[in-house]
Amino acid sequence: MKAVEIKTGIFWVGAIDWAIRDFHGYVTPKGTTYNNYLAVDEKLTLFDTVKYNFGDTTIANIREVADPSKIENIIINHIENDHVTSLDKIMHLAPGATIYLTEKGKKGLERLYDISSWKIKTVKTGDTLTIGRRNLLFIETPMLHWPDSMMTYIREDKILISQDAFGQHLASAARFDDEFLECASVFELEDAVIDYYANILMPFGNLIKSKIAEIQKLGLEIEVIAPDHGIIWRKNPEKILKMYLDMAGGAAELKVVIIYDTMWNSTEAMTLPLMRGIKEEGIDCKVLKLRATPMSVAIKEFWKARGVLVGSPTLNNKMFPSVAEFLHHVAGLRPKGRIAGSFGSYGWGGGAVKEVYESLKGMKLEVFEPGMEALSRPSPDDAEKCYEFGKAFAKKVKEYHAQF
Ligand code: FEO
Repeated sequence: MKAVEIKTGIFWVGAIDWAIRDFHGYVTPKGTTYNNYLAVDEKLTLFDTVKYNFGDTTIANIREVADPSKIENIIINHIENDHVTSLDKIMHLAPGATIYLTEKGKKGLERLYDISSWKIKTVKTGDTLTIGRRNLLFIETPMLHWPDSMMTYIREDKILISQDAFGQHLASAARFDDEFLECASVFELEDAVIDYYANILMPFGNLIKSKIAEIQKLGLEIEVIAPDHGIIWRKNPEKILKMYLDMAGGAAELKVVIIYDTMWNSTEAMTLPLMRGIKEEGIDCKVLKLRATPMSVAIKEFWKARGVLVGSPTLNNKMFPSVAEFLHHVAGLRPKGRIAGSFGSYGWGGGAVKEVYESLKGMKLEVFEPGMEALSRPSPDDAEKCYEFGKAFAKKVKEYHAQF
């Protein structure tokens, strides 16, 4: 893909990774993009780079617009590998360029490259840089999502280059939200935003709220939000800001997701009457088997729903390993504003449901107890109890949801 002008003199010069399906452990069924940007001004300025195997691509895109050896400034908003590992190639072409990044960014960069011969200036929130007719404003966003992270605002063009925040893993010929929606649904775009947020930014809801408030307090007019992945928000930047504020505030759909695994299909057999009970209360329900579902998809579906039922058979008096793995991931993401319960089958002693509750309580989630257990294959009586359990849980989910 060629360079794309996003505003007069500001170009997308990134790369589309159509083929990536495993992004450091997250499934990316729709690929991704590594977005970086070039401002053609008195001082040619590059914003971020791309993943190492796309270095030649971004250099070719830059070359369409300007001679890369003329780059004078390189803004590094974030030093994760997908954005910084072409920096050496760029610096080889433009060895006199000055790199601007946060203090933490500099410390991280030292671990990746020998920077002794590079000109580096560290910046903090409120610092500015004039590149000609344009003025840049740097805004640190530590832990959104790495300690080094920052955003750069181009004042004259009203563009916020937001690094990972507001991004999505979507490979597309479309560069902009309005272009994307000409050939895809709003659901597809929103689903990609939620997937990204759930798997990467879920722990940082409070930080997101305060950082967006800080940006609003600065009185910055934002016409374009240009993230480092996926489509650029030029038609409706307010939409992505609202989605982030909503998610940071704990927004969820009034529905239940049943996430389970099974050994001999007994725990699985419980899911159908549970779902019937939930549906009976007028609540939508989705059912996911963990070994049939990529982890990042299970995390996204967990995050979308207000209520979750976690099902596990007992193995050696403990929960099933895939369920433990799922709860381990969820715990690390520090979810809030979700109500959870548990169910499962056992052969003799039990233990899985108790352990699932311990995990859920450890996360300080609202829990619905006692859980639902069945000895071996659920009997018709067990199925009836599952149905009633599903109904009771759905009622509780409705009550809990009302407070949001
Ligand atoms: Fe897209 Fe945190 O890297």
